[in-house]
Amino acid sequence: MKKLTTEIYDLAFGGDGVGKIDGKICFVRGALPGEEVVFDVVKETASFVKGELSDIKTVSPDRTDPLCKYYYQCGGCQLQHIGYAKEVAYKKKQFEELFARVGSFKGFKLDEVISSKDHYNYRSHITLHKAGDKYGFYARDERSIMEIASCSIAEEPINGALPCAARADDKDRLTIKADHAGRLWFSNKMGERFFPDTYAGKEMMFSPLAFSQANRHISTEMARVLGEWIGEEKKDTVFFDIFSGMGFFSFLLAPGFNKTIGADNDRVAISAAKTTAKEKGYSGMKFYILDAENEMERLYDSEKGPKNIALIDPPRKGLSAEFVEWLSFAEGLNEIYYISCDPARMARDIKAMTQGTTWRIGRSAMFDMFPRTKHIEALVSLRK
Ligand SMILES: C[S@@+](CC[C@H](N)C(=O)[O-])C[C@H]1O[C@@H](n2cnc3c(N)ncnc32)[C@H](O)[C@@H]1O
Repeated sequence: MKKLTTEIYDLAFGGDGVGKIDGKICFVRGALPGEEVVFDVVKETASFVKGELSDIKTVSPDRTDPLCKYYYQCGGCQLQHIGYAKEVAYKKKQFEELFARVGSFKGFKLDEVISSKDHYNYRSHITLHKAGDKYGFYARDERSIMEIASCSIAEEPINGALPCAARADDKDRLTIKADHAGRLWFSNKMGERFFPDTYAGKEMMFSPLAFSQANRHISTEMARVLGEWIGEEKKDTVFFDIFSGMGFFSFLLAPGFNKTIGADNDRVAISAAKTTAKEKGYSGMKFYILDAENEMERLYDSEKGPKNIALIDPPRKGLSAEFVEWLSFAEGLNEIYYISCDPARMARDIKAMTQGTTWRIGRSAMFDMFPRTKHIEALVSLRK
């Protein structure tokens, strides 16, 4: 295999070290800025080289030992070999550069960066995938499945259940969630459909079958910051929680609004949200099962008040051009809050939303929801 040597000067989004040889960019998995490394070339084009770390001639002082024994094979984590403060600093830089490059927001700077209290054992749920008779995580090749006895970023109770849980199911995927008390909830047929859990002192219904936030501390922080940005109670404003899931943000922001409208296309998630609203006696909250991309405009028109706020928390792929178009011109909409786990798509969507004269970026915050991995979560507000 061809070997090359380079000095690493940056960390790309995704976690590869970046070097340059004769003007050609090199992406070296496992290498850190400040290191001189030898790497095996795995792909080469006219403009870039991709490689796997083979030897480190000069070691960065930021290098740390990964905690997980599967780190170099598993596809889950990419940043266990760098100190946590540096991980967050590079993610901030990556986010700002993506906003400048993809969103054309020249010189973009985040207002707030919120680090995770726990750097390991923070994930409140994991999903195992099945291949043949094996259950496990996707390996680094993103195709094969590797069995694991424990996951260093999962909350401890989940690890306790891993060896037997994986054998107890016959579906393609198995999700295991832990609640704050360490009780476990499974997506297989033996599991309960709904379970209660508490965030910021509020009990809500969750399901192992629906999306939920991964990191207790950071998701609670996101709701806190969102509440701060929205400001004092806005009793005269309708709050639209679009892509609401089980209503996590609706309930944490209650009772700030007299009227909250949640919408999601997942039947199980909306059923959990409706149960919470009913059992906890929240008034003025309605949750709808619908395809937000196609049906939100109609719902908005029928539920809107004189003043309206929209929280948008779409899946990784972001928003369709049609949805962005509707949102940008929705009558009576005063503020938009956009949460995303994909900074490039978020930058693309916000660029489109701010193309006209109506919307401008207000505030921005990055939340390290997924320490030790390449993933970045952010909240950006748009104001008129
Ligand atoms: C990133 S999650 C956010 C969930 C929620 N805000 C929370 O904090 O738990 C994205 C949500 O979008 C929903 N979703 C995906 N595509 C959708 C669509 N076309 N219309 C409505 N909801 C959709 C998913 O079911 C999921 O609950």
